[in-house]
Amino acid sequence: MPGEFPTVRPRRLRATERLRNIVRETRVHPASLMLPLFVVPGTGKAEEVSSMPGVKRWSVDRVSEEAGRAYDAGVRSVILFGIPESKDASGTQAWSDEGIVQKALAALRKDLPDLTLVTDVCLCEYTDHGHCGVLRGEEVQNDPTLELLAREAVSHARAGADVVAPSDMMDGRVGAIRRGLDGAGFEEVPILSYAVKYASGFYGPFRDAAESAPSFGDRRSYQMDPANGREALRELEQDLVEGADMVMVKPALPNLDVLASVRAACNVPVAAYQVSGEYAMIKAAGERGMIEEERVVDETLTAIRRAGADLILTYFAESAARRAAWS
Ligand code: PBG
Repeated sequence: MPGEFPTVRPRRLRATERLRNIVRETRVHPASLMLPLFVVPGTGKAEEVSSMPGVKRWSVDRVSEEAGRAYDAGVRSVILFGIPESKDASGTQAWSDEGIVQKALAALRKDLPDLTLVTDVCLCEYTDHGHCGVLRGEEVQNDPTLELLAREAVSHARAGADVVAPSDMMDGRVGAIRRGLDGAGFEEVPILSYAVKYASGFYGPFRDAAESAPSFGDRRSYQMDPANGREALRELEQDLVEGADMVMVKPALPNLDVLASVRAACNVPVAAYQVSGEYAMIKAAGERGMIEEERVVDETLTAIRRAGADLILTYFAESAARRAAWS
């Protein structure tokens, strides 16, 4: 039994940074941060994303500059999002071996051989209607989309992806991708499933960056209702049964309770995505002097880790890694 005040004084261990440092329960290691990268067609490009100050869209010939800076800071993985040259109804550029992500994989593999390359597997950046699957009328069709996602994942693996990360939220996609990869000889390529992905207002800035906003409707018929926590565990269970090697919860900060329950319910590595809107809010408030940006970033990343994330996908990866390496 703990004693009582004045014998017990929790403040004793908070008195100096020397003491606080040695009793700290949670640390963010640079290698637990994954940097999202947007890749655009063309050459010589580093385009600002207006809703995400400090984030750029890189052409293939320059993407290694940004990835290299993150690598120097201790970041050991990136996740790639491609903005294709052209879009169509079924997103065929997604599985083109000459596609934008496929080319970026080749460049990054050559320039940064020790960086882990993850790819986002989804159709929304590649379809002209901006939905994550193929349509019949205005309905996003589940089963016909599975085959296309599997093709995309196989094409990424062929181009050198270390890990594929499906974010589309079709039912059965982890299994379909696993079978596709195995059938093509990529049985060693792991799947990081966006298992728990909510239909969130926090993705707004990303859709500017990736030019992937749906042209009609929204994603609520496939992404999860943010009101549902138990359903997250069903999604988790299903993805594990289908062969997910790692799972993700997204967005991160509004869903720390879900993250903690996912962590407790499984024994695979768990990732959390601090998404574009979470980034944009911190940036905007920081730029206006309302909060101290760096302090708030570190606090959020520590909280996400404390809630159970092994890996955190964050647009702050490079700068946070530089601080984390010395903390
Ligand atoms: C693709 C995808 C999205 C994000 C990651 N993968 C957008 C969406 O579902 O609309 C969001 C990431 C972010 O907001 O930073 N489906």
